[in-house]
Amino acid sequence: MSDMRYTPMDEDVSEVLINEEELRLIVARLGREITNAYRAAVEAGERLMVVCVLKGSVIFFSDLVREIDLPLELSFMQASSYGKSTVSGGVVEIRLAPTDAQLKDAHVLIIEDILDTGHTMHKVQSVLADKGTKSVRLCTLLDKPSRRQAPIKADFSGKEAPDLFVIGYGLDYGEKYRNLKYVGVLKPEVYEG
Ligand code: IMP
Ligand code: MG
Repeated sequence: MSDMRYTPMDEDVSEVLINEEELRLIVARLGREITNAYRAAVEAGERLMVVCVLKGSVIFFSDLVREIDLPLELSFMQASSYGKSTVSGGVVEIRLAPTDAQLKDAHVLIIEDILDTGHTMHKVQSVLADKGTKSVRLCTLLDKPSRRQAPIKADFSGKEAPDLFVIGYGLDYGEKYRNLKYVGVLKPEVYEG
């Protein structure tokens, strides 16, 4: 029909950064790395708790936990630093976090969509610190190391991203594009216009 009330999401993408097949390969590889890293601890009876940082990580998290071949617990946190903007505010609000009882004696693996300035992860890690965990590690799908301001490093990393605003596979701009099946670069005119 000609009376479309929305722009198809693909039209706002200048370039596909990671297609569906590459996403599958990255997630499978991360799943193997994580399985190998925690196997001995889990076999020794210790708990692995995998934490989804909402909302951006939800799609990556759902795919990744099924590639980890170990018993584990799912947990959710919500952190937000971006409004409808492509520039991080630096102020990070935590709205949901695991309880102290859940964290005690667990190996905690945080799953993030993208590491940019690092402010979000810095805040998330501070909330998980001093809770009697066995370990706290970080897995990110994408990393923009050139943009880092806080001293944050991923233990497991999917792919380095260029200093461009990317969307899809959970990542949004103004809550849109999260359900794209691939990771794409957002056309600058969408947020500059
Ligand atoms: P940081 O606190 O600057 O590291 O930003 C982390 C958060 O900002 C991520 O969890 C994302 O939600 C968001 N973010 C950073 N870069 C991008 C991007 O290129 N596209 C979409 N969201 C982004
Ligand atoms: Mg996020």
